Amino acid sequence: MQEQIEKIKQHALQEIASAEDAKGLDEARVKYLGKKGELTLILRGMGGISPEERPVIGSLVNQVRDELETSIKERENYFENAELEKKLLTENLDVTMPSKKIDLGSVHPITQIINDVKEIFIGMGYEIADGPEVELATYNFDKLNTPPDHPARDIQDTFYITDDIVLRSQTSPVQARVMENQKPPIKVICPGAVYRSDSVDATHSPVFHQIEGLVIDRKISMADLKGTLEMFTKKCLGEKTQIRFRPHHFPFTEPSAEADVSCFVCGGKGCRVCKGEGWIELLGCGMVHPNVLRNCGIDPKEYSGFAFGFGVERIAMAKFGIDDMRLLYENDVRFLKQF
Ligand code: DAH
Repeated sequence: MQEQIEKIKQHALQEIASAEDAKGLDEARVKYLGKKGELTLILRGMGGISPEERPVIGSLVNQVRDELETSIKERENYFENAELEKKLLTENLDVTMPSKKIDLGSVHPITQIINDVKEIFIGMGYEIADGPEVELATYNFDKLNTPPDHPARDIQDTFYITDDIVLRSQTSPVQARVMENQKPPIKVICPGAVYRSDSVDATHSPVFHQIEGLVIDRKISMADLKGTLEMFTKKCLGEKTQIRFRPHHFPFTEPSAEADVSCFVCGGKGCRVCKGEGWIELLGCGMVHPNVLRNCGIDPKEYSGFAFGFGVERIAMAKFGIDDMRLLYENDVRFLKQF
């Protein structure tokens, strides 16, 4: 009996060692250790063995089974390692290869100017206000003291969605929305897109950007307006920038003015950007008209305020030396990368 077991062991070890893959190994395992395997059958047949021999044979079979199992495990490991080795050899990865380039964009010049302006006014205690681009004509015009026969209301100039709804032609309607929703003191700037029925050329676009400013409090005067704009233009365009005010007319301010700044490209000597003038027309401004205050629920006897508004594209173009407005909207990365 012991001899027979020894023989089975030798055969089994040989077959395990010569198995060529996991399948062959499994066949060997079933053949010797399976339910009907040769070693298992020996255990089953122990009934015919004398009681003295039984424990000896039993422990021998167990010992052989352990050996075979160990041997199978080793062979399995060998297959796994060989598989891994093969993978490592064939699927090689060169970690020193340069990676695919990810192009990082840059902040658009218009956004840069808006961010700079926001930063400056936030530093002076202002908040940022927002309003809809598809706006009620009431907010774009009526509340801003702009009568029905005003030329700006003509379909030649403004895009109408319906008789009562327009694409806002200025950021000024945000003033009215803020005044209706907020009690003074009010200090806001409102950046955003505006729309006008202009055809596209080097200095015009039907969509462009404005920044509106509004301050309402007790005893606000024209001196506050001038001081604020002087401070702002110096911070935004350079400490040497001069500002001058010319009388003008806007329906929503009284008195109204336009402000020019000394050319921040040539310093006022005269150049291509300022067309030899030394000055660049920058913005419209004035003291908020009492009718506008009343229209928006603020008592003009108690409060006064100033407002201003300017185009962002013009500043971006002068500051970055861009001579054609269309470049700002084409989204050509070769152009945008420069800023
Ligand atoms: N909304 C005016 C425009 O689009 C600019 C402007 C002028 C805004 C005077 C103001 C202001 O707030 O007081 O031309």
